[in-house]
Amino acid sequence: MKQQLSETSVLNSLRLVKDPDLHRDIVALNFIKDIKIEKNNVFFKIELTTPSCPVKDELKAQAEQAIRDNIENIGSISIEMTSSVRVSPMQLRAELLSGVKNTIAVASGKGGVGKSTVAVNLAVSLALDGAKVGLLDADIYGPSIPLMMGIDERPKMKGQKLMPLEAHGVQVMSIGFLVDPMQAVIWRGPMVSGAVKQFMSDVDWGELDYLIFDLPPGTGDIHLTLVQSIPLSGAVVVTTPQDISLADARKAFAMFQKVNVPVLGIIENMSYYICGHCGHREEIFSTGGGKKAADDLNVPFIGDIPIYTPIRIGGDIGKPIVVLEPEAEQSKTIRQLTRNMAAQLSIQSLSTPTPKIEISL
Ligand SMILES: Nc1ncnc2c1ncn2[C@@H]1O[C@H](COP(=O)(O)OP(=O)(O)O)[C@@H](O)[C@H]1O
Ligand SMILES: [Mg+2]
Repeated sequence: MKQQLSETSVLNSLRLVKDPDLHRDIVALNFIKDIKIEKNNVFFKIELTTPSCPVKDELKAQAEQAIRDNIENIGSISIEMTSSVRVSPMQLRAELLSGVKNTIAVASGKGGVGKSTVAVNLAVSLALDGAKVGLLDADIYGPSIPLMMGIDERPKMKGQKLMPLEAHGVQVMSIGFLVDPMQAVIWRGPMVSGAVKQFMSDVDWGELDYLIFDLPPGTGDIHLTLVQSIPLSGAVVVTTPQDISLADARKAFAMFQKVNVPVLGIIENMSYYICGHCGHREEIFSTGGGKKAADDLNVPFIGDIPIYTPIRIGGDIGKPIVVLEPEAEQSKTIRQLTRNMAAQLSIQSLSTPTPKIEISL
């Protein structure tokens, strides 16, 4: 039996629509805002937890269908998709980076797996979806973000604070702007984390939905000290499919576990190659390793990125692939993978209990 149009019947219909990642209905998740009814027409907003929602279009279509199926004599249904990124429980507790809602480390057990390439493309993809994004190049031994983002200026001071530089809609700061990597190679752990701490406290990051950290590769003492000094909402581990690289990814996982940083998942880079001439898919470094490692470690597999020459070219000329070739399949793959990561972060935020704030009068 169909119901009459009313705010209650609209909400009852929308209770049938479940967010597949958060496993609850969109009314219970408090996504429905500003219901307005005029004659037999209805308008409302669906406020998601991230503008990078992987199932945005599906949720909108399902919401419309649920109302059509359950309400009598309905006219037009206008749904506005909006978002309000939630503050990660980690950030609520942190004293540093108070304007930043979520911090994500991009890590790898070893260098050369495409960690910086992934960090850059994740950051730009989040910005393209409409999020406010920062990118902090903390790879003291090989800061490559300025080159990959096409920045050759130096950051300026405003009062006591250093201003990030903007490129492709992302606020960027790099340790490479300020220290000589030749000198940094001999730094010990406390010096590295001291420098990175300064990047958190002395840079005017403003309000950000996501701040991405490109960490130095490795899992040694320096890295452990470093990840302990950053209030991290989550980490993604980048790997290539080779065995040695996967063993390193496992070490990175263990490192984050030690410091209680949730691993949002594994990204496999340079997974396969599609021949530009015949379309043949070649699995150069074998395949499925990232997925298997994720299954073994019981963390999500966020996705894989193929080897694609323009990804390398984009890095060299300062135009990440998602802006250099937005219509390429490889870019679409990266955009979707970014949304999978954002969804994992929302899952983390909702599943971790918010710390109780004790107020003493
Ligand atoms: N999927 C890919 N396809 C083609 N080239 C890639 C891909 N990922 C990374 N590269 C290239 O591989 C090199 C190493 O990548 P980089 O992101 O600098 O690795 P890391 O930060 O882990 O040391 C760079 O020249 C980069 O452009
Ligand atoms: Mg790098």
